[in-house]
Amino acid sequence: MENFEFVSPTHFVFGRGAESKVGTELAHRGAQKVLLHYGGQSAIKSGLIDRIKASLDAAGVGYVELGGVRPNPEIGLAREGVALCKEHNLDWVLAVGGGSVIDSAKAVAVGAHYDGDIWDFFETKQQTEDVLPIAVVLTIPAAGSEASKNAVLNNDELQRKSGYGNNAQRPKLAFMNPELTFTLPPYQTAAGLTDMFAHLLERFFDDVGAVPVTDNLNLSLMRTIRVEAPCVLAEPENYDARANIMWAGMLCHQGLAGVGRHEDWATHGLEHELSAFKPEITHGAGLAVMFPAWMEYVYPENPARFAQYGREVFGLVTTGDPDADALNAIDETRAFFASLGMPTTLEELGIHEEDIEKLLPTLKANKGEPFGSFKKLTMEDAAEIYRLAL
Ligand code: NZQ
Ligand code: ZN
Repeated sequence: MENFEFVSPTHFVFGRGAESKVGTELAHRGAQKVLLHYGGQSAIKSGLIDRIKASLDAAGVGYVELGGVRPNPEIGLAREGVALCKEHNLDWVLAVGGGSVIDSAKAVAVGAHYDGDIWDFFETKQQTEDVLPIAVVLTIPAAGSEASKNAVLNNDELQRKSGYGNNAQRPKLAFMNPELTFTLPPYQTAAGLTDMFAHLLERFFDDVGAVPVTDNLNLSLMRTIRVEAPCVLAEPENYDARANIMWAGMLCHQGLAGVGRHEDWATHGLEHELSAFKPEITHGAGLAVMFPAWMEYVYPENPARFAQYGREVFGLVTTGDPDADALNAIDETRAFFASLGMPTTLEELGIHEEDIEKLLPTLKANKGEPFGSFKKLTMEDAAEIYRLAL
């Protein structure tokens, strides 16, 4: 078991009506005036933004609005958020939405007391404690950003998508009402399921041996997602299924499912280049394509680990041949993502063979070389994995 540090400062308010407590919980923590940050349409259409405003008004918490965060959020809008925080002396950032809104809120919170450009943090990874506190009303279980230390932003001008990790930007408050996820389109539900499952895979497959306390938690979350996934897709208003998935999404990425391990994160790196190159690509859909390809390429490093995963998550019977067991587990993974309605090839995402070379320079800039842990990958390896995914 490797050394680790772990901090998780988030206060969770979970269940029906959770969002009605936004105003009182913020007021209780001394919030005076917040940036109310949200996405394109869904939270307005559902009336959620109006309910949040009513809750803030009733508690005497002021707000300035900034909507319009797009999926794969762009740094430009976060810069506008920073300017609003400075102009109005805002003291909290309240994100209402999914990973994209929350990540944009994190960038705003980091930049609010910074004199330079917030993209600096994504370039240099410099740490700061001077971050505005963040509250979240989650509307889609997927990225796990409601408790994670990461923000991932696109910079369209540079055609980059980069992550920035800092414990100081973990949300202080997260309101999680599973009913808010009833309105998700099936594709977004499926992409979210894929993303949270991928967060477990990234942590399970690395170059550290068994860490049972961590691994068993991880495997149990994978099994839960596998069982609940068809339920939320078949019955979008099944409260208990939605609730289990919503809480699982948080547990998959707040950190506990990987402590004591190195973790891999090569596949997320490979995907982020896809959604930087084409921001219309949904992160989870990109992962559904890339994960089985990465698995096929790397499994010979440790087929027994894949066999264990196949046994414990998909109930596969051991054949006695570790390579065959590993390949069966990979087939099950691909079939699971396909059963959710996710794409299986890069072509389906509009990425073609001639695009692969264009992805490599920014991949190298973001991840360095070699990258990954289960198998250390060069850019040649990365190109090969993209080709396997075509
Ligand atoms: O913009 P609106 O109209 O709200 O629509 C959104 C958006 O189109 C819609 N949506 C959200 N809640 C809804 C809803 N539609 C109907 N009903 C609801 N209740 O769903 C679409 C996707 O939203 P988005 O926030 O983009 O989804 P997600 O949570 O999957 O976030 C994806 C982003 O998070 C990053 C990804 O790379 C991507 O940029 N990630 C962030 C991580 C982190 N911060 O720790 C880790 C992840 O690995 C990931 O990289
Ligand atoms: Zn992810």
